[in-house]
Amino acid sequence: MKKLAVLSGAGVSKESGINTFRDSGGLWEKYPVQQVASIEGWYADRALVLDFYNARRRDLKDRRPNKAHRLIAGLEKYFQVTVITQNIDNLHEQAGSTNVIHLHGEVTKAIGEGEDPTDPSNITDIGYGDIRIGDKSRRGNQLRPFIVWFGEPVPMIGRAASVVSECDMLLVIGTSLNVYPAAGLVNYIKYGTPLWLIDPNPIRVDYGNYTQITDVATSGMEKFTEMLLNGGLADGQE
Ligand code: APR
Repeated sequence: MKKLAVLSGAGVSKESGINTFRDSGGLWEKYPVQQVASIEGWYADRALVLDFYNARRRDLKDRRPNKAHRLIAGLEKYFQVTVITQNIDNLHEQAGSTNVIHLHGEVTKAIGEGEDPTDPSNITDIGYGDIRIGDKSRRGNQLRPFIVWFGEPVPMIGRAASVVSECDMLLVIGTSLNVYPAAGLVNYIKYGTPLWLIDPNPIRVDYGNYTQITDVATSGMEKFTEMLLNGGLADGQE
């Protein structure tokens, strides 16, 4: 089976009712990113940061995958699909995607402050519950969201880069490609590998020939799927 890598961002969850970060009315307009999504912000005011992610976790409880998530999951019938997402929600998994790399962590998980995020025994699945000051990990450290904040390393970036360097096609959907190292993943595709973008706004990518479907995620994915399956781009469809 051909390998399809999908790099997704907040735009793919927008039609599920979850705000993006940098669109007008986005999250960072309401909450200064340095205050709620950086390691400095955590040290400055742990309770504020816990409240921010408690609110996002509670909101996620009522959100469902949209058609874009479902179409991406459905491509696993025709491709070996790896989803590399910048999103901390679990909507790709809820839609049925079985191979998801969360570059920026997962809001339904927690870890003890200062503990190694690459050690699975440090990660606790908390579902949609709150984390409070005083909640401790089994090692006795204050629990924090299992999120990669600005100013922290991105443990999964190496694995994501090899997925992109080995893929036969890369789809970038719903991301402004503003944040590194995630945005730099586009540079790992082998020369000549087809690159597709789905975004309602024009996205500039410094790569040879690429195709942008200028549309929202749901209808963009319908067009992309149509093109893949009817264009014979899936395996065994010469
Ligand atoms: N369908 C598809 N794309 C959409 C839609 C939609 N309905 N609505 C908006 N978009 C696009 C926007 O045009 C933009 O390009 O989604 C993108 C959202 O960009 P950002 O808000 O910057 O989100 P993202 O790229 O995921 O941010 C990356 O930045 O703040 C950090 O850690 C955070 O993971 C996040 C990272």
